[in-house]
Amino acid sequence: MNELKKAIIPIAGLGTRMLPATKAIPKEMLPIAGKPIIQYVVEEAVEAGFKEIVFITHSSKTSVENHFDTSFELEAELEKRVKRSLLDEIKAISNLKVVIHSIRQGKALGLGHAILCAKSILNSNEPFAIILPDMLIDGPNKINNLSKMRKEYDLTGKSSILLGKAKKKDIKKYGIAKVNKNKLNHETDIVIKIIEKPSLKNAPSNLFAVGRYVFSYDLIEFLSKTKFDKSGEIQLTDAIESFLKKNQVNAHYLKGNFYDCGDKIGNLIANIEYSKKDPILKKAILNHLK
Ligand code: G1P
Repeated sequence: MNELKKAIIPIAGLGTRMLPATKAIPKEMLPIAGKPIIQYVVEEAVEAGFKEIVFITHSSKTSVENHFDTSFELEAELEKRVKRSLLDEIKAISNLKVVIHSIRQGKALGLGHAILCAKSILNSNEPFAIILPDMLIDGPNKINNLSKMRKEYDLTGKSSILLGKAKKKDIKKYGIAKVNKNKLNHETDIVIKIIEKPSLKNAPSNLFAVGRYVFSYDLIEFLSKTKFDKSGEIQLTDAIESFLKKNQVNAHYLKGNFYDCGDKIGNLIANIEYSKKDPILKKAILNHLK
């Protein structure tokens, strides 16, 4: 079985939910407690054991790639000013033990199309993870949900989707799944259906795709066959729906909290919650909230 080492992170979206902040700045570079969203996500992938990151990107997003590159001028300046801890923090970003690839998504043809753009970088039959960077995940006691999914794939070769519980009002924002007990192994549930942004009435459950997926290479074949939807996009969820009719997809249940940082309120809440846990910001933010 091929080793799971690549995580695809689609970042070509224009971030319209965060305008005007995202007019000239990628939404992935917006800070949460002083650190760009994308850095949390890449660190999550590295911690989960991924060796390669594949950004599916757009011409307006070069600052994301630059963020993970060495910045000689900045480092020299911090060295000169003897800002040791800041220098170490900055160096650590470009020293992350991961290879970063970038592929351009020339046309905005949807999330499914973005993932399909990674086809040229995947070896034949190579599995991959997908990480949607809008969603920050904060596992309790440093639990890394993605790491569990990766380990399970390495043991069993089974694809999986991370599912969280959506509030009723949010069901229309997400991919909603239906699960069944696995008859052969009662400890796992299997995803048997997934619908993109259903109405509350049509939703098969309140379980939503949080934005962490692990798939065998076969998903690429299903993506290539997925038709454009009404809005002219190739939906990842449509490809998954066809894929799971032929392949077992395990459900993983989210441990911890999620923050949808791609919209204004989610982003603000994430800023407060992550600041409350930051050793430097904690005291000041708690005082302020009082
Ligand atoms: C995408 C997926 C959706 C998933 C969501 C998680 O939607 O299509 O299935 O639940 O991410 O954030 P988007 O946020 O791109 O509209």
